[in-house]
Amino acid sequence: MTDRALSVESVEVYYGEFQALFGVSLEVAGGETVAIIGANGAGKTTLLRAISGVLAPRRGRVLYRGAAISGIPAYTLCGRGISMVPEGRKIFPSLTTEENLEIGAFARRRGHWDRQAVYRLFPILQERARAPGSDLSGGEQQMLAIGRALMSNPDVILMDEISLGLAPLIVRELYNVVRRIAAAGATVILVEQDVSRVLKAVDRVYCLLEGKVSLHGRPSELSSEQISRAYFGV
Ligand SMILES: Nc1ncnc2c1ncn2[C@@H]1O[C@H](COP(=O)(O)OP(=O)(O)OP(=O)(O)O)[C@@H](O)[C@H]1O
Ligand SMILES: [Mg+2]
Repeated sequence: MTDRALSVESVEVYYGEFQALFGVSLEVAGGETVAIIGANGAGKTTLLRAISGVLAPRRGRVLYRGAAISGIPAYTLCGRGISMVPEGRKIFPSLTTEENLEIGAFARRRGHWDRQAVYRLFPILQERARAPGSDLSGGEQQMLAIGRALMSNPDVILMDEISLGLAPLIVRELYNVVRRIAAAGATVILVEQDVSRVLKAVDRVYCLLEGKVSLHGRPSELSSEQISRAYFGV
């Protein structure tokens, strides 16, 4: 299937002997924006790590544009077009904004995104270009984490909880940016705990419950009862 950006097929992921994902499958078409929701510990971050190459599934496989990528490390996948905005932002505190962005360009592919394009997206980052990461506010760090991921010109961008701990105004701004990134053609996968916000922003949603997909569909086709049952498992 050519328009399929990603397929996750019956993936099982472990941390040592602890199993975190049980037969998880998902399909994402090119250009789609998809949310992954679920309670704390449901396996959302683990699923993103399995897609981005940070973790290798013990069983099942991940396909990117039809080719199996399970077991290929994250830095190689980044050069092939899969990039992650990690949980907790993971900004290098002693490096400047500019240097953090350049790290994202280590596997640079051709495309729209470079430092100036990121600064047009987030003008505040240009003002903070020479400031160390540790001096940035939480919102600025989140913008930097998104900008760093864009620097490789990804086809698929995975974002893990971009709104966590940020003021509503900043969250709104970040979501506007997500829309612009998607409109520029990227496939976007958003992990989010703020369910009502993310449902307004995506084409489809997957809910995880204790390491399994408990529900998926288009937000408009799912009732809030269905979603809360799939989310809480009650
Ligand atoms: N590095 C790790 N070592 C061992 N167990 C882990 C590790 N990371 C996550 N887990 C466990 O795997 C399960 C899934 O965790 P994961 O971080 O994927 O959940 P999550 O849905 O992202 O949760 P949150 O909303 O809190 O970020 C949890 O039970 C968690 O305790
Ligand atoms: Mg997580």
